[in-house]
Amino acid sequence: MNNFESHRESYTKDELIEEKVGNDPVELFQRWMVEAINDHVKEPNAMILSTVDSTGQPELRTVLLKEIYEGGFVFYTNYESNKAKQIDQNPKVSLLFLWKESERQVRINGEAVKLSAEKAQSYFQKRPRGSQIGAWTSPQSTIIKDRDFLDRRKNDMENKFAGIPILDKPDFWGGYKIVPDKIEFWQGRDNRLHDRLLYTKQEDSLWKIDRLAP
Ligand SMILES: Cc1cc2nc3c(=O)[nH]c(=O)nc-3n(C[C@H](O)[C@H](O)[C@H](O)COP(=O)(O)O)c2cc1C
Repeated sequence: MNNFESHRESYTKDELIEEKVGNDPVELFQRWMVEAINDHVKEPNAMILSTVDSTGQPELRTVLLKEIYEGGFVFYTNYESNKAKQIDQNPKVSLLFLWKESERQVRINGEAVKLSAEKAQSYFQKRPRGSQIGAWTSPQSTIIKDRDFLDRRKNDMENKFAGIPILDKPDFWGGYKIVPDKIEFWQGRDNRLHDRLLYTKQEDSLWKIDRLAP
């Protein structure tokens, strides 16, 4: 299949109007997240994270939003991964949520800030043991010889931690919070005349709201 011109959706589910949204975009995000769950969006907390490499090349990947914490959007990862190296060089990142069943998109720009080791440890220890072992096993983003490498390493880690009921997180594993300075809400509307409201954080920390043309 090489032609997708006839794939068209009409968006008629809702509208996004200034009178209803309030001054705090994080609160609006939380409201939309509840609505995404009610609309049966699969993995509504999956978000596309954009970073930039040292040549200026943007890179995208999906990560999972785990919490909204101190006004920031939290995810966890390997601190030696490509994304982490890129964040070290340039902490300015973008996030994107596409909630198709709600006919909505949310776009966030902000700065990535590392979470404390204590905070990451506290989340790590709530994860299923298999995910904990997985974090210890995977040298994320590096080239590995074959699948066997992972399976063998996983066995090694299971042996290493056998009999230890509560695992510590690896030093190379932790979290970031993305502190937003722009959040754009997009609601699909009829005839491609969608609603877009852009919140921009001002110096006084209040948010300015602008309507953008679709
Ligand atoms: C639905 C979904 C959720 C994911 N969640 C995470 C996550 O929370 N943390 C993470 O490090 N990678 C997650 N990944 C894997 C990343 O997309 C990516 O492959 C990995 O982090 C390596 O990215 P990097 O090489 O750019 O650092 C997820 C992938 C998918 C498809």
